[in-house]
Amino acid sequence: MKIETHPASDLGKALAGRVAENLRAALAKKGRASIAVSGGSTPAPFLAALSAENLDWAHVSVTLTDERQVTIESDRSNARLVAQNLLRGAAADAQFIPLYAAGQDIAETGKQVAASIVPLDVCVLGMGDDMHTASLFPDTPGLAGMLDSDGGTLVALASPPTADEPRVTLTAAALTTAAHTYLLIKGAGKRTALDQAMSTTDLLAAPVRAILDASSAPVVFYAD
Ligand code: 6PG
Repeated sequence: MKIETHPASDLGKALAGRVAENLRAALAKKGRASIAVSGGSTPAPFLAALSAENLDWAHVSVTLTDERQVTIESDRSNARLVAQNLLRGAAADAQFIPLYAAGQDIAETGKQVAASIVPLDVCVLGMGDDMHTASLFPDTPGLAGMLDSDGGTLVALASPPTADEPRVTLTAAALTTAAHTYLLIKGAGKRTALDQAMSTTDLLAAPVRAILDASSAPVVFYAD
């Protein structure tokens, strides 16, 4: 794992430039590219900066690392965050693949993830102070299976006791398919949590560790 520290005002743009390079390389090699991005309060500047990158967006698939079980009209919706910050201008030509729909059959969602999302070219994750990533929170029922990178399940319904609402999340088996993995975090509290995650092997207490150990050697983009 590598940690790159940037000024807070530059963090999003710096990551957007690196991700755009990754996506261009995938487009040049395969004629298509895929990226999964996280929600929350940190990614907006990154998403807006990525939106301004010159890419063959019509051949880029965009999805989420996780989603709250809310409608896109909700200000809690990650799909809304992506629509408002990334899928603008030329980037509106990208194919957005939602992760949640009311009444969804999660097995069908898993088939769609298998068919059209994994293996990912790029995965951009956040992390909470409790060392969760995506919607893989400590104390979530069924977390062990969601963290099994060799498990067959690619997407799961999650009901983290500490989250504001039930979630849908890509599992470690899906997230760790990414060729390029980034952890986008801001603030000293998260830097402390990252150090804690690196100092334990208890995945159930530090779910982000399942990603930090991924073969794609995640790069942490950090700002104080
Ligand atoms: C979500 C995210 C989640 C997020 C962390 C950090 O849907 O909330 O995907 O994993 O990345 O909770 O969130 P902040 O950026 O708001 O601190």
